[in-house]
Amino acid sequence: MPFSQESLNSQAWCSLLHQIRLHYGSNIGDNDYQFLERIYRDGLHKYLDRLKSIGFCGNQRILDAGCGYGQWSLALAQLNEMVLSCDISPLRVSVLQKLATQIGFTNIASEVSGIDIMTYPDQHFDAVFCYGVIFLTPWRQSLAELARVLKPGGKLYVNANGLGWYMFLWQEEHNKADDYDPKAIAAQTFLDTLRYDRDGVYKQGMNLIIEPKSIETELQRLGFQDIKLAAEGALHLNKAVTSPRPFFKGEYYGQPGIFEATGTKR
Ligand SMILES: C[S@@+](CC[C@H](N)C(=O)[O-])C[C@H]1O[C@@H](n2cnc3c(N)ncnc32)[C@H](O)[C@@H]1O
Repeated sequence: MPFSQESLNSQAWCSLLHQIRLHYGSNIGDNDYQFLERIYRDGLHKYLDRLKSIGFCGNQRILDAGCGYGQWSLALAQLNEMVLSCDISPLRVSVLQKLATQIGFTNIASEVSGIDIMTYPDQHFDAVFCYGVIFLTPWRQSLAELARVLKPGGKLYVNANGLGWYMFLWQEEHNKADDYDPKAIAAQTFLDTLRYDRDGVYKQGMNLIIEPKSIETELQRLGFQDIKLAAEGALHLNKAVTSPRPFFKGEYYGQPGIFEATGTKR
């Protein structure tokens, strides 16, 4: 039976995730089940609050670029008219579609696509939201692509990981699981970043360190104005709502951790 949006308490989410587990079985690995549990166990309120605090509400058509398992898409769908979601992972797109159907959201359309090359027309979206993705892609190309599909006057949100985050992964082995090795990811990221920044080489599966200043420079180059940069979860652009709650730290070991940026396309 579909869930009504009002009945989405933690028990309902638990039941939804149980159904996902039954349906997808071993197609979803342990690390990803733990991730699904972490992102949905408290419902969507924390995502709704964050979106309201950066003013990503009331748009006719908004893109969730790299939607993953869809928590931001489901929140965006409650605050905007139509959400288009894409991710390079068919599994993740399928899970989002299943959740949206179960919950009864009809204003989300999802598709399998990279964010570095998209088939959406130019100036198609009133706003573009991209959480936790660009550092897994050739990020300069992805930012250009996100800018291309955004209408003039439209707002972009992106976030990325600085050097401190990878020091933290190395040091703390955060969220280590049988199929997720944070230390190995940190080590590989250094090499990947060197190859991307120095030689322009990008291959699927790379992780890239991005510094806040580099994002700012790139957004300026792409013609964004009113660019704002802050630690993840710190941008409070709509003062009519309460201060947002960050999910991560903006600094680890004195180096940039996870940070976010917004800008308006000229
Ligand atoms: C850390 S997850 C974040 C997902 C989601 N936005 C969230 O906040 O949970 C990174 C996502 O990026 C996706 N991804 C990786 N490379 C991509 C690419 N080139 N284009 C689109 N999505 C990509 C992965 O499949 C994954 O779902």
